[in-house]
Amino acid sequence: MPDLAQILNRLDREMRADGDWGEVAAYIPELARVPKDRFAIAVVTADGSLYRAGDADEPFSVQSITKVFTLAIALGRSGDQLWHRVGREPSGRAFNSIVQLEQENGRPRNPFINAGAIVVTDEVLSGREPREALAEIVQFLKTACGSDDVYINNAVAASETAHGHRNFALAHFLASFDNLLNPPDLTLGTYFHHCALEMSTVQLARAGRFLVNAPDLPRLISATRVRRLNALMMTCGHYDGSGDFAYRVGIPGKSGVGGGILAIVPNVASIAVWSPGLNRYGNSAKGTEALARLTRLMDWSVF
Ligand code: DON
Repeated sequence: MPDLAQILNRLDREMRADGDWGEVAAYIPELARVPKDRFAIAVVTADGSLYRAGDADEPFSVQSITKVFTLAIALGRSGDQLWHRVGREPSGRAFNSIVQLEQENGRPRNPFINAGAIVVTDEVLSGREPREALAEIVQFLKTACGSDDVYINNAVAASETAHGHRNFALAHFLASFDNLLNPPDLTLGTYFHHCALEMSTVQLARAGRFLVNAPDLPRLISATRVRRLNALMMTCGHYDGSGDFAYRVGIPGKSGVGGGILAIVPNVASIAVWSPGLNRYGNSAKGTEALARLTRLMDWSVF
């Protein structure tokens, strides 16, 4: 195997040498305060070895990457019933698009666009209080990454609540099509808070190991579901940039507007990257580029 530690240091140098850091997400004001000249990468292999470079201990807002974990929880609670409420097709639209939801009668295309993730959150919330659902989500992440140092940033959640007009519109659309079990403000409150979870790049890479099929882990979900989550990450994990990500990077991945990406080499490694500046699809610009270079150098691909 090529020298992974050396490759990560090289990527860290290369990413910092290029001056174009992209644009941080401004529609959540609290996220706009994050300095954009940050880069981190961490790889945890199936046997648990950690390789890292850059600002890999700095916590950042995980945002949409939590959608993978909430989907795992929702499938665990509700099984395939969930698919009556949300589809499994790429959307070809921005993550916060409204138009498709109306055209398709309130059944979101997939669980990773915002409308779909709101439905998944609603499923995780059903039958209990938001704080109980959030406690399960936080605990799942703590167990997955093997650390108790995982927190919700309440300032980020409050900032998104105050400016989340599109998500309120999506939730009310869902309710108007009878595809919400809980009051929109409770489902959205839960959604905004799990998006506001903070983890470091190292923690995220460790947490992703449950999607690698690592042999020694406590099994959080079945091997079949691991495959299915990876399939959805591959086809829908980067919204209308999913085809481009598959072409350039070649492995399943899920992005967040905080600038993080979790990517999986099935049976081999979990990779997390973080750089807050985003490309035009709302996915980390340098994070995507670093993953493209890493998978080429390591000869990692699912194709
Ligand atoms: O709902 C939102 O808009 C954010 N809390 C999450 C969006 C996100 O991370 C999109 N990913 N690139």
